[in-house]
Amino acid sequence: MNKVQQHYDEIADIYDDRYDGHRGRSYHRHISDHVMSVLPKGGFLLDLGCGTGLFVERYIQEGGRAVGLDISPGMVRHGRQRCPESGFCVGTADVLPFRDGTFDALASLLAFSYVPDPEAMLEESYRVLKPGGRIAICTLSRTVFTSIVPVIYQVGEKVGLKKVGVGDFNERYYTNGEIACLLEDAGFADISVGRCSFAHLNLADPVFSLARKVEPFIEEKLPYLAYNVCAGGKKPEG
Ligand SMILES: C[S@@+](CC[C@H](N)C(=O)[O-])C[C@H]1O[C@@H](n2cnc3c(N)ncnc32)[C@H](O)[C@@H]1O
Repeated sequence: MNKVQQHYDEIADIYDDRYDGHRGRSYHRHISDHVMSVLPKGGFLLDLGCGTGLFVERYIQEGGRAVGLDISPGMVRHGRQRCPESGFCVGTADVLPFRDGTFDALASLLAFSYVPDPEAMLEESYRVLKPGGRIAICTLSRTVFTSIVPVIYQVGEKVGLKKVGVGDFNERYYTNGEIACLLEDAGFADISVGRCSFAHLNLADPVFSLARKVEPFIEEKLPYLAYNVCAGGKKPEG
């Protein structure tokens, strides 16, 4: 079994605890806001690495329809419970079981770093989008701060820490330039790349509140301090 799949199956029942509290909700809502801002509302969405369906739920709340795909059957089970009216399937993001030109919007939140063949995922994403459809990817970016994360996760795995995302998964973090190039090479146009997130849910409460307050300033004026990258693009019409 794929190691990432095994990990997310093991933590599927505790994944949502992470986002149930005030800090987790605020963190995920913030990322989702960035992703929503580059997607058409009210369309048909595919969410790749959908996990427990948090963004599928958000897209539906904003008037759309959505389908989620995830490599972990455990996470997909929770997605189906959260959004019983939506379709969920188990699969890998770089081989999509959908016809050409099916979706108006394609999202992937906090999952792109795990995908071993990002070029294939974007090629497939382009294929299943309708002409004029839009893609948005939010993933951890490569900075001086995040470069230490894989080492922490490797140590966490060695000492048997069972926490969401902790393990040696050969994850890849991207710079703005790298993700823009990947989108361009896949054929996307109208590419936008920005950095988001400064208030991490793991911060203690008073620090989190402060980080939340300065987050808009950081994202606009000191983007290299924000640790996620949110990239968007459009499949050209005709
Ligand atoms: C950190 S979780 C994010 C889940 C969800 N997008 C969210 O925002 O809560 C990462 C998810 O990516 C999924 N994943 C990892 N590699 C994948 C792949 N190659 N194809 C599809 N899903 C994958 C994992 O199973 C997991 O559910």
